Amino acid sequence: MTHFLDISNTETGDIRAMLDRAAAMKAARAGRPKGTPDDETPLAGRMVALIFEKPSTRTRISFDVGARQMGAETMVLSGADMQLGHGETIADTARVLSRYVDLIMIRTFEEDTLHEMAEYADVPVINGLTNQSHPCQIIADVMTYEEHRGPIADARVTWCGDGNNVFASFAHAAGRLGFDLTFSGPAQLDPEDAPMRFAAQAGRPVRIERDAATAVEGANLVVADTWVSMHDSQTARERRHNLLRPYQVNAALMAHAADDALFMHCLPAHREEEATSEVMDGPHSVIFDEAENRLHAQKAVMRWCLGV
Ligand code: CP
Ligand code: NVA
Repeated sequence: MTHFLDISNTETGDIRAMLDRAAAMKAARAGRPKGTPDDETPLAGRMVALIFEKPSTRTRISFDVGARQMGAETMVLSGADMQLGHGETIADTARVLSRYVDLIMIRTFEEDTLHEMAEYADVPVINGLTNQSHPCQIIADVMTYEEHRGPIADARVTWCGDGNNVFASFAHAAGRLGFDLTFSGPAQLDPEDAPMRFAAQAGRPVRIERDAATAVEGANLVVADTWVSMHDSQTARERRHNLLRPYQVNAALMAHAADDALFMHCLPAHREEEATSEVMDGPHSVIFDEAENRLHAQKAVMRWCLGV
């Protein structure tokens, strides 16, 4: 079974093939109305289940539209409305869903839920974000970088803020695709050990630099994300804001990056918190290309999972 659970357990060659296919599929339908099918519909006759245990705009809509453009039927399900949210086990849910659908994407809390779903499903499972990682986002981010600047290998990427799930997938990608990643944030919000170990073992140890201006010096790509993730307790909000304020990506900080540096944010953003509107809407920003590329990247992920 070909699941897409994380960049760390997807081979580099497979990631490269997905990136190439995503770019080709994007080019092939340039300018067409979004509701028209692709010339090829490799998912015709397939049923795709999209399960959300957390809110979503981009993931939900881009998977739904992408699957339909490739000819599939889709159903978007809220975890809370399923028996899953009322005590049915993940294993039973996975076995039942496998009798109805050909592909499952799930956004959930603990990554153990995702892994249990994958273990018991007879159909491919895709990680649509967990507390620990967000691999679909980073496939789209790499696609966006390469579309604007060419190969990401050896590029200098600086993450400013919380060592969260999106950062973890960046660390996995640094290891798989060979770029230099710097983490700049407070020690209290350092990344988890596992993604740091993965990057180091792949020969791309993540540099930790507490001073944001030093971290951004000469960077080709600067990345920000929300200071409070969906799984974080709202009671920690003020503490997080106080810790993270020195890592806001504003014009003064971006001035330390390379002249042609890109700025990314997976969105949703809290403008004037982790990044200013001046940066988000400024000349370095590619945030809306990044959001669009979720669609193209995930179409390639779905095809790879189904082998079509
Ligand atoms: N970036 C991202 O995954 O956005 P959503 O939470 O809107 O899906
Ligand atoms: N780190 C954020 C990403 C949202 C797409 C969260 O998990 O809420």
